[in-house]
Amino acid sequence: MSERITSVLNEERRFPPPERFREQARIGTWAEYQERYRRSLEEPDAFWGEVASELHWFEPWREVRRWNEPFVEWFVGGTTNLAYNALDRHVEAGRGNKVAYFFEGEPGDRRVLTYKDMLRETSRFANVLKAQGVEKGDRVAIYLPMIPEAVVAMLACARIGATHSVVFGGFSAQALGDRIADAEAKAVVTADGGFRRGAVLPLKPAVDEAIARTGDVVKTVIVVRRAENDVAMEPGRDVWYHEAARHASDVCPAEPLDAEHPSFILYTSGSTGTPKGVLHTTGGYQTYTYLTARTVFDLQENDVFWCTADVGWITGHSYVAYGPMLNGATQVMYEGAPTHPTPDRMWGMVERYGVNVFYTAPTAIRAFMKLGDEHPAKHDLSSLRLLGTVGEPINPEAWMWFRRVIGGDRCPIVDTWWQTETGGIMLTTLPGVHDAKPGAAGVPFFGVEPAIVDVEGNEVPDDEGGYLVMKRPWPSMLRTVYGDDDRYRNQYWSEIPHVYFAGDGARKDADGYHWIMGRVDDVVNVSGHRLGTMEIESALVAHEAVAEAAVVGRPDEVKGQGIVAFVTLEGARQGDDALREALRAHVASQIGGIAKPDAIHFAEALPKTRSGKIMRRLLRSVASGEDLTGDVSTLEDRTVVDKLLQGS
Ligand code: PRX
Repeated sequence: MSERITSVLNEERRFPPPERFREQARIGTWAEYQERYRRSLEEPDAFWGEVASELHWFEPWREVRRWNEPFVEWFVGGTTNLAYNALDRHVEAGRGNKVAYFFEGEPGDRRVLTYKDMLRETSRFANVLKAQGVEKGDRVAIYLPMIPEAVVAMLACARIGATHSVVFGGFSAQALGDRIADAEAKAVVTADGGFRRGAVLPLKPAVDEAIARTGDVVKTVIVVRRAENDVAMEPGRDVWYHEAARHASDVCPAEPLDAEHPSFILYTSGSTGTPKGVLHTTGGYQTYTYLTARTVFDLQENDVFWCTADVGWITGHSYVAYGPMLNGATQVMYEGAPTHPTPDRMWGMVERYGVNVFYTAPTAIRAFMKLGDEHPAKHDLSSLRLLGTVGEPINPEAWMWFRRVIGGDRCPIVDTWWQTETGGIMLTTLPGVHDAKPGAAGVPFFGVEPAIVDVEGNEVPDDEGGYLVMKRPWPSMLRTVYGDDDRYRNQYWSEIPHVYFAGDGARKDADGYHWIMGRVDDVVNVSGHRLGTMEIESALVAHEAVAEAAVVGRPDEVKGQGIVAFVTLEGARQGDDALREALRAHVASQIGGIAKPDAIHFAEALPKTRSGKIMRRLLRSVASGEDLTGDVSTLEDRTVVDKLLQGS
């Protein structure tokens, strides 16, 4: 972390909010954003106190914020309950018959759950947890497909004060076992299986294997019947949810919980070592996800909101399970693969449910783009009024496609930057206020004070690359790494003094927009210039032959690092030396000779995690001709790497 980061992406297009959108937006003027932002920094206690007061508290807080670097508490002394705020509050206000979820399973089964239904199901689930011996403060691992019971189980934990640790259903038994062991989960909630790409993905055998690795930590396993595949049940430990639920009451009062009560642990990978258990609490988390969901997605009373994330990721926690529910929103939830049984599955659902706000990941957008415009074209997407992206930098090419083909050139796009650790959206545009710039994540949300700094913590001038940090704590900030305060301090608060270090490189332009350049370890250093790999990838993807690109560095005696690109091609295009040369020349013309890849590998597919992030660490090994060492348990499809190795 010593050299300067050089930013090379040159993108000048901007798209103001359409007049019609602005007129009815929750925040529709720059002056209002500016005034509220100013107040959130100058009078944070008053600002956040007012937002929190829109939710229900059993006991009021005595102090809004207590900061003892690097540990923060919000709403000190207050007691509240996330599930009460997400469910009871709406039912009591007469919105019990409003739809909470339109659910579709992959095979086509459909369920509609109202807020009243969700309250009843959550209460019943909470009573089953209690009957199985789960108490306030216990940890519960949730390993389920993307079905309503996943959200119900999370809310049931929140209702009784158990801390959930959701483990993505695509993770292996080993990954699950590691997480169960680290959190010392007393109970596991799982299903027989789920549906994925037309097949049953069994879950229960992975739970059995995970438990076999973790000794006698787990006392009870609650199994939801979903795919009706055969499973082995261990007497005395395993119970079928539908059987236990038969004897359970559907009334369960919400437990008043301290504002700092741990609501969940979510494991995320760092650049080194074992996954970190990111710990979130209650009062600050609910306040921040409530306000961000409402403001960034401009949620209106009759909107249908669809965030495509699985609850196994933070996006599914904050913008499927909690933020929208805290707002009483109507959502779409889908279990399976986005292209099953046909490539237009998602667009058919947008049409069927009249989705108004659609939030997804750049990797999905690039995949849809590759499939072709004819699939969205089969459906009426005119209900859409706002689009959003999250999870990685979006290359302007994919952004423009999303805007034109999905958004019909009429929907604003919010590019939201945040992390598992931040709990909620930190940098974004507000859709009724700010012009959108393709590839830029926008400006700080209320209460967020970012800076771009050098390694000593000095702010760098506008348009110069540096490290993205946060200068003050926000309500949904992680509180620690579960069971490891030192790791928390070292990882986030030591590298650069007195600020939260996000691990990303970024630059801020003269309008205050943040252009994320990727993780610091995704930055290559060529002849003393640090180049964001994303920017080179954007240039490659802008070439008409290229569908997706990943760029990594490899050691180079002269330049420090050379650039290696892995490229998948559009349609049936085949890669050859002529195309290689054309792409190198293309990057050189887009960015400059310095960014020209030294090598280009054509690949059928890129290795990705199950959440869709390209595994650059693996590509770096392939590019450098090293052995593949380290953890590949998060890899979606192992054969992708084998093919790359054969081809390299
Ligand atoms: O590098 C940034 C990238 O994803 C990282 C956080 O990953 P995770 O904890 O898995 O959370 C993803 C969902 C919130 C960040 O450090 N990232 C996330 N959103 C964006 C992004 N990079 C660029 N633009 C974004 N909008």
